[in-house]
Amino acid sequence: MTRIDTRPALALKGISKHYGYVKALDDVDFHVAPGEIVSLLGDNGAGKSTLLKVMSGAHAPSEGTIEIEGKPVSRYNPSLASDLGVEMVYQDLSLVDGLDISTNLQLGREPLLPFPLSLFGFVDFRRMHAVSREQLGKLGVRTAPPERMVEMLSGGQRQVTAISRAAVRLFERGGGTILMDEPTAALGYEQTKMVEKLICRMAQAGFAIVLVTHNLPLCMDVSNRIVVLNRGRKVADVARADADHNRIVSWITGAATAA
Ligand SMILES: Nc1ncnc2c1ncn2[C@@H]1O[C@H](COP(=O)(O)OP(=O)(O)OP(=O)(O)O)[C@@H](O)[C@H]1O
Ligand SMILES: [Mg+2]
Repeated sequence: MTRIDTRPALALKGISKHYGYVKALDDVDFHVAPGEIVSLLGDNGAGKSTLLKVMSGAHAPSEGTIEIEGKPVSRYNPSLASDLGVEMVYQDLSLVDGLDISTNLQLGREPLLPFPLSLFGFVDFRRMHAVSREQLGKLGVRTAPPERMVEMLSGGQRQVTAISRAAVRLFERGGGTILMDEPTAALGYEQTKMVEKLICRMAQAGFAIVLVTHNLPLCMDVSNRIVVLNRGRKVADVARADADHNRIVSWITGAATAA
């Protein structure tokens, strides 16, 4: 059993978000602690992706505050989030199609050939592929070979690569928060199981994990806590042990609340 730290890795307080007339989020409090897996559930349009984008710095909230490891952040954006150890895996993936898997994994941190070739920025591809193969092995990830171009990958292989990239960064940093927007939506049975294992392994390594999903069996298997949004409001925030399938469906549909 993973020991869950009580100090949140990431905390949101009183978050509201308006898109013109649409109130996508209404006064939402949210937190996730190191080693904890929190599933964020809700029907289409409930505000899940919006809340994740606020957590990742992609969208600024209209109201409310964000704290990372206990410290309030201002002028928050995705690059600052990444520096502070918050990595997002988007619903619409953000890999570079024209590059291979290992370059996508090491983007911005590619190993260079020895001096003097390093002066010209020549990448040591052989080393990069070997490092990537080793990293994927450590993560327990089996996907296409690291030399394969991303544009040649299936939707599932891309998804696994995107999650692996965030995981690699956090393992190198030694901790942080990973935000995943429907990571298994495009996956078959075996790759869903692989991602499930990877999520659990990251939690055991002490990462804080926020998982947006419509996959209730996955949510029931991996979550420590379940948060449900309904039309932008938080309607439930309960330990996994206090949730069952029927209660979750009633929160999602708005028939009941437990917040
Ligand atoms: N960029 C945007 N501009 C305007 N409205 C937006 C924008 N992004 C989201 N919305 C609106 O905000 C609400 C919440 O959308 P959001 O994408 O967060 O839902 P979701 O819970 O992720 O849904 P799904 O399960 O379909 O992915 C919706 O009404 C949506 O139309
Ligand atoms: Mg969404």
